[in-house]
Amino acid sequence: QQINWYPGHMFKSFKEIKENLKLMDIIFVLVDARIPFSSMNPEIQKVLGNKPTIILFNKMDLADKSKLKKWIEYYEQKGFTCLEIDAQSGKNVNLLKTTAEEVLKEKIEREQNKGLKQRSIKTMVLGIPNVGKSTLINTLSNRKSTRTGNTPGVTRSKQWVKLANGFDLLDMPGVLWPKFEDETVGYNLAVTGAIKDNILPLDDVTHHAIQFLQTNYLSRLKERYSDEITENSEYVEVLDIIGKKRGALISRGDIDYDRVYMIVLNDLRTKQLGELTFDLLWENMKMI
Ligand code: G4P
Repeated sequence: QQINWYPGHMFKSFKEIKENLKLMDIIFVLVDARIPFSSMNPEIQKVLGNKPTIILFNKMDLADKSKLKKWIEYYEQKGFTCLEIDAQSGKNVNLLKTTAEEVLKEKIEREQNKGLKQRSIKTMVLGIPNVGKSTLINTLSNRKSTRTGNTPGVTRSKQWVKLANGFDLLDMPGVLWPKFEDETVGYNLAVTGAIKDNILPLDDVTHHAIQFLQTNYLSRLKERYSDEITENSEYVEVLDIIGKKRGALISRGDIDYDRVYMIVLNDLRTKQLGELTFDLLWENMKMI
C-alpha cells in the first residue's frame, strides 16, 4: 500500500528550504533514533549540497542503544558528523555548540586570521514531521512552546532567536518529506507515530509491528504479554493472547481487536516494550 504524503507541497518545500540554507553556517538534520533510515529524507544530499551538516539522532531515550551505535557508524562513514540527543529532556543538547564549532573549525579560523570579529553561528533545524524539531528549538531557546507547523517548507516569516550559546537559530524548522514510496518505511513511520494513525490501516500497522517484534525482540513480547507467544505464532493468535491477557474483550469473550491494536502500538511507543530500533542496517545498507 502506497502512502500519499504531501507530494503537492514537495517542490515548494524544497525551494523554500534551499533559499534558507543559503543563509546558514551549519544545518542540524533531525532523524528519529528508532528509525534512522526511515526518518531520513530520501533526497537529503540534494537538499543540503555541501552545506556543513550535523545529523541529530533524536529520541535516543526510546532507541535500542547497540543498534543506534551501528547506525551512527554508518552515517559517520558517509562523512556526516553525528550526535544522539533527547530533545525533550535536553540530554546532549549542550553538545550541539561544541560539535558545530568542531565542524566549522577551519572556517572560524580563516575568519579569525582575516581579523574578523567572532560572530554568531547561523543555523536551522530540518527534519520530517514529528521527529522533534519544535521540541529541540524550544529546548535550545528555553521556551515552553512555539508555533511551528507540520507543513513542508518554511511557511512563517523568518525570525531569528539569539541563543545564549552563540547560535542564531531560525525559529521555524524546515519540514522535509519522508521516503513515502517504500512500504517498510511507511510502516516504520506509522509504528513509531511519525505519521498519523489514520493514514495506514491500524490492523496492517500492528501486523507489521508484531511480526517485527517476533523476529527481533521476541523476549520483550513474552515478558510484556505472555510466554505463549513464539516466533512462529500466527498474527491472530498473538492478538488473541494479548487481548485475553489485557482484557480487551467485547461481549461473550470475543476479542476487541481495535483495542488490541491500540494496546500494542501504545506500549511500543511509550517504551513499555523497552528500547526499540526498527530499521535494520543490513537491509538498507545499499539504499542511501
Ligand atoms: P516536529 O516539530 O518535528 O513535528 O516534532 P515535535 O517537536 O512536535 O515532537 C513530536 C513528538 O515527539 C512530541 O510528542 C514530542 O514531545 C516528542 N519528542 C520530541 N523529542 C523527543 C525526545 O527526544 N524523546 C521523546 N521520548 N520524545 C520526544 P507529543 O507532544 O506527545 O506529540 P504527539 O505525539 O501527540 O504528536
